[in-house]
Amino acid sequence: MKIVHDLPGLRAALAQHQRPAFVPTMGNLHEGHLALVRQARPLGDITVASIFVNRLQFLPHEDFDRYPRTWEADCAKLEAAGCDLLFAPREPDLYPQPQTYKVQPDPALAEILEGQFRPGFFTGVCTVVMKLFSAVFATRPSGVAVFGKKDYQQWMVIRRMVDQFALPIDIVAGETCRAADGLALSSRNGYLSDVERAEALQLSLALRDLAREALARADALATQLPALEQQALAALAARGWNPDYLTVRRRADLQPPQPADARAPQALVVLGAARLGATRLIDNLEI
Ligand code: PAF
Repeated sequence: MKIVHDLPGLRAALAQHQRPAFVPTMGNLHEGHLALVRQARPLGDITVASIFVNRLQFLPHEDFDRYPRTWEADCAKLEAAGCDLLFAPREPDLYPQPQTYKVQPDPALAEILEGQFRPGFFTGVCTVVMKLFSAVFATRPSGVAVFGKKDYQQWMVIRRMVDQFALPIDIVAGETCRAADGLALSSRNGYLSDVERAEALQLSLALRDLAREALARADALATQLPALEQQALAALAARGWNPDYLTVRRRADLQPPQPADARAPQALVVLGAARLGATRLIDNLEI
C-alpha cells in the first residue's frame, strides 16, 4: 500500500488510473471500515482510502482533540484489507488557508436529526468530502465512493450533494457492521467503559422495539407516531441514557411518514442518537 500525504503526491499516484474506488474515513478503523474497503475493491481500478480527522465537522465542545488517532494499526488494517493507496493529509495539506468557502447542504435534509443536535455538522462533512472528492477524482471520467449506512443521514446528504453538483461519482452504500451482540461498530465505542459497553446495545434494541410498534400501527402511524417516539425516548432515559432522538422517518427524504408511506414496502427507517455517559452513539434500522 502506498501512502501519500499531500495533493501532488496523490495526483502522481493516481495518474494512470481511470476510476478510483474511494473510502473516506477519520481513522481509528474497525471492521465496518474494512468491510467498506473490501466492498470498494472490485468497483474501481485502484482502491483509495483517506484518513483525516476533520476539524470542521466537530462542534467546539465535541471530541475533536480526543478522537482516537491510531495511525500504525490503521495502516496495517488497510493494507490487510487490500487498500492500494492511503491519502492521509495533514491539516495544512487540506486546509492551507482557513476554509471560508463551504458546501451548504439542503437544510431540509441536513438541519434535522443529526443536524439539529450537531449544528453545522453536515456543512463540515460536505465541505471536506467535496475537497477529498476533488482531490481523488479530479479530471477522471468517473469514480465510486463507498459510505456506511451506519451514518445513514450522512450517506443521504452526500448522495444529494453528488446529485446536485452533477459529480461523476457513484455513491455506494455499505451495510452496518455489528458486534456479535448487535451493537453497531463505531470508533466511538472505544470510549465506553465495560458497564457502558454492556448497556450500549439498548439503543439498537430501542430502535427495534420502536420499529415493531410502528409497523403494528401502520394504519394510524402518522397520528400515533409522536406518542410512540416519546415512549421510546422515555424508556431509554429511564435506563440512564440522554437521548437526542428516536424516530421513524421516510427513507426517501428523512421526513416523518405520511399515511401512504406506512403501508409502502421498504419505505421507512428508524433512527436514533443518544448519549450514554460522555459517549454519543447513533444507530438506525431500515424497516
Ligand atoms: O464518516 C466519517 O468518518 C466522516 O464523516 C467522513 C465521511 C470521513 C468525513 O470526514
